[in-house]
Amino acid sequence: MSRSAHPAGPRHADVLPEGHYTAPADDLNSLDPKVWAQTVGRDADGVVTVGGIPVTRLAEEFGTPAYFLDEADFRARCHAWRGAFGTDADVFYAGKAFLSRAVVRWLHEEGLNLDVCSGGELATALAAGMPADRIAFHGNNKTEDEIERAVEAGVGRIVLDSFQEIVRVAHIADRLGVRQRVQIRVTVGVEAHTHEFIATAHEDQKFGIALAGGQAAEAVRRALQLDGLELIGVHSHIGSQIFDMAGFEVSARRVVQLLAEIRDEHGVELPEIDLGGGLGIAYTSDDDPREPHEIAKALGEIVTRECEAANLRTPRISVEPGRAIVGPTAFTLYEVGTVKPLEGLRTYVSVDGGMSDNIRTALYDAEYSVALVSRTSDAEPMLVRVVGKHCESGDIVVKDAFLPADLAPGDLIAVPATGAYCRSMASNYNHALRPPVVAVRDGEARVIVRRETEEDLLRLDVG
Ligand code: LLP
Repeated sequence: MSRSAHPAGPRHADVLPEGHYTAPADDLNSLDPKVWAQTVGRDADGVVTVGGIPVTRLAEEFGTPAYFLDEADFRARCHAWRGAFGTDADVFYAGKAFLSRAVVRWLHEEGLNLDVCSGGELATALAAGMPADRIAFHGNNKTEDEIERAVEAGVGRIVLDSFQEIVRVAHIADRLGVRQRVQIRVTVGVEAHTHEFIATAHEDQKFGIALAGGQAAEAVRRALQLDGLELIGVHSHIGSQIFDMAGFEVSARRVVQLLAEIRDEHGVELPEIDLGGGLGIAYTSDDDPREPHEIAKALGEIVTRECEAANLRTPRISVEPGRAIVGPTAFTLYEVGTVKPLEGLRTYVSVDGGMSDNIRTALYDAEYSVALVSRTSDAEPMLVRVVGKHCESGDIVVKDAFLPADLAPGDLIAVPATGAYCRSMASNYNHALRPPVVAVRDGEARVIVRRETEEDLLRLDVG
């Protein structure tokens, strides 16, 4: 296919403006299975389908913008993680990536546990029937009210994040007459290769208690002295959207070293370690994520080896994937409103959503892919920037991508891999109405989070 310059904007790689581009696929109609949910394909008319339903029908029934979540894919990913880690380990889905009552039920059915990090997430988990002992409660500044609700509900563990919180949780547990199972979140001093705002285990950030300078050892000393706490282990989460296993390996090694130090000082072998979440997914064809079984194998081996060297019993491992489970399962469907070629630069394609349904591009410089999904096209690739309808020039959904040059208002385009941290970070900026999440499975689609309405907005505005 020729990619010569075109009046609608530059197409050829030699004349592209500066930036980072995933080269246009040879066939813009192809859908890379790395970035699209499992049941996504095209029907005989060239319309993209998910769970057997064409997106044109979904758009008619549910409107745009909307997130469509492939339930079979979600369950398959849960199954793969569960299977990879086996019965000697626990997989806690990180609810912050995306949480709804339907999702909680699927997790429960698939044998996963759940990590929550706020009273709202806890309420959702409990409302959908997740047994409290399979819930872990996180957060660097849990309120007294949240702690009390978590202890009262009987959550399986609270992950302690500061010296103040050690005392706070112990007091509340005492008052309620229970011994609360807790882990201590330690900062292992690993530089994770990801965006600064989603890296969490270097020293200069707000999470956890540093291993460096003996802080974590001191936290363990204090927690072990408090009757209200049952210290079951140590937790480390090094960041998010990470591909390189080296950081996890260093983290595992340091956490096991701490367990050995605890054994030497206190004569106690803590039974569990949690290595957090953070595994990367493919947002574009350039990304090469690891499979759950590779991750389980790498982590299992390093923990076993380090424990043998330190003469420790191997602790029960848990992990907390969020993005790696829900991220690839959903796409956002938009309708094209305007197509604006900027000579010598690129073509701006405006859709009916934007930074209110996907803040990740603006916030983390995240890269996404995009495809024309309501039809196929043989037109040449055109360099586009997909932008939203908000009053802000940073309102970018996909910074640089290629779409067919005959793209026109009324076409449907979809951005894959938006299952994680898009609906959960959605906002009402410009009084946008947050889009629905529609679960699709075996030819059936059902709303699991409905679209917001103007009435919803006005209900909060008490005049
Ligand atoms: N465990 C803990 C303690 C965490 O803080 C997180 C994410 C996870 C597990 C799950 O990480 P995941 O497997 O989903 O990467 N809003 C950002 C991501 C923030 C992640 C915060 N913590 C984004 O959109 O990239």
